[in-house]
Amino acid sequence: MKLPICLISEDNKALGELKQQLEREAAYAVESKVYGYGAAFDWLRGKSGPVVAVVDLSRDPEGAFAIAAEIKLKLSNVRLVMTSPSGNPDAILRAMRSGAEEFFTQPFDWAEVLKSLDGIRNKIDLHTSRTADRGQIIAVSSNKGGVGSTTVATNLAASLVAHKKSVCLVDLVLQFGSVTSFLNLEASYTILDLVKNLKKIDPMFLDGSLVKHASGIRVLAEPFYAEDARRITAADIDEILEVLSQFFDYVVVDTPKEFDDILALVLDKANMILFVTEMDVPSLKSAHRAFELFNRMGIYEKKIRLVLNRYIKSKLMSPESAEKALGAKVFWTLPNNYPTAIAAVNQGLSIQECDPRSDIARSYSGLADAVLESFSIAGATRRDGVEKRVGLLNRLMPVRGLLK
Ligand SMILES: Nc1ncnc2c1ncn2[C@@H]1O[C@H](COP(=O)(O)OP(=O)(O)OP(=O)(O)O)[C@@H](O)[C@H]1O
Ligand SMILES: [Mg+2]
Repeated sequence: MKLPICLISEDNKALGELKQQLEREAAYAVESKVYGYGAAFDWLRGKSGPVVAVVDLSRDPEGAFAIAAEIKLKLSNVRLVMTSPSGNPDAILRAMRSGAEEFFTQPFDWAEVLKSLDGIRNKIDLHTSRTADRGQIIAVSSNKGGVGSTTVATNLAASLVAHKKSVCLVDLVLQFGSVTSFLNLEASYTILDLVKNLKKIDPMFLDGSLVKHASGIRVLAEPFYAEDARRITAADIDEILEVLSQFFDYVVVDTPKEFDDILALVLDKANMILFVTEMDVPSLKSAHRAFELFNRMGIYEKKIRLVLNRYIKSKLMSPESAEKALGAKVFWTLPNNYPTAIAAVNQGLSIQECDPRSDIARSYSGLADAVLESFSIAGATRRDGVEKRVGLLNRLMPVRGLLK
């Protein structure tokens, strides 16, 4: 089937050449007109299947970004591409933040344009065939040791299971992960076995590779030996998360604190990032640096959720002041309850199993409700903004460069 393409510009000339070239391609059905911003939205709204919108920034960039925002907000079937005569990194970054999957610099490099459109086409095919019903990937992240990311990942997973969802908890703290110790599990196989057998993974193989906790969570353990972490690449993780999300409603990932290619991949791929911090000044400073990094990476900010852990009411520091410091809304606060948190870990139980009536168990149940509600609000737009944009990201600035 031909993929419809709508060209959107306030200047007919800019996209005229693109239109002519696309008309020669059998795989694409380019709209006969170059639409102005207002008319384009009405045209797009009338389409129900996948469609590519190419928005030109050359005449009126602000108007172009406004239409892009409206498209991403309201039309989940539209794949956004932006184009301008300048390949200025600021414009590319802003386009990415607006949800563009590709950016074409004018004059058009036809081979590049075609390659990018074919990439979008492949993603659409993949999603409509294999993955119409795929699960959601939730990355639990923090950049400061001990703030509670493993506790949040483990107990969110348990609460989602209690909400009758199938959940796989993945320990991506590949060197010294602690999910199996938190849940007192003995794994016979680890993520390394999946990596070594990527091409052979089928439901039976997967079933055998995941260890089961009494709560119902399935766990993909970290490698037995820390030195084996080096044998696992971001591409392996990409494939593993892809497979797991086809078998589970939710894939909850405990992530390392140090930034590397694997973390970049996971943050980009996740449908939701729960960023965990505490409310003391050093934690908030670290969190601020992480948010700046997310921003530089072009991570889609609407998928980031701020979680305040070990919350204690204080006159000196309130959730509002944390919000002000970080420029982000607090999604959830978890109360400080060390006796229950530690009793659960020491018995290899989830907090809910350990003490279901505690304030912290109830708060985790509320967190799961809030997460589920976020996804149900996102509804049809569930993968909005979280497609594989690593290619575009890399083109803009190699991930390693961000670390410097
Ligand atoms: N809400 C809470 N109230 C009290 N204690 C908590 C709470 N959440 C976590 N803890 C405790 O804080 C400690 C650190 O938690 P956890 O190991 O989950 O943090 P982390 O960010 O994963 O640490 P690491 O940097 O080692 O990976 C643990 O002892 C845990 O039981
Ligand atoms: Mg941890």
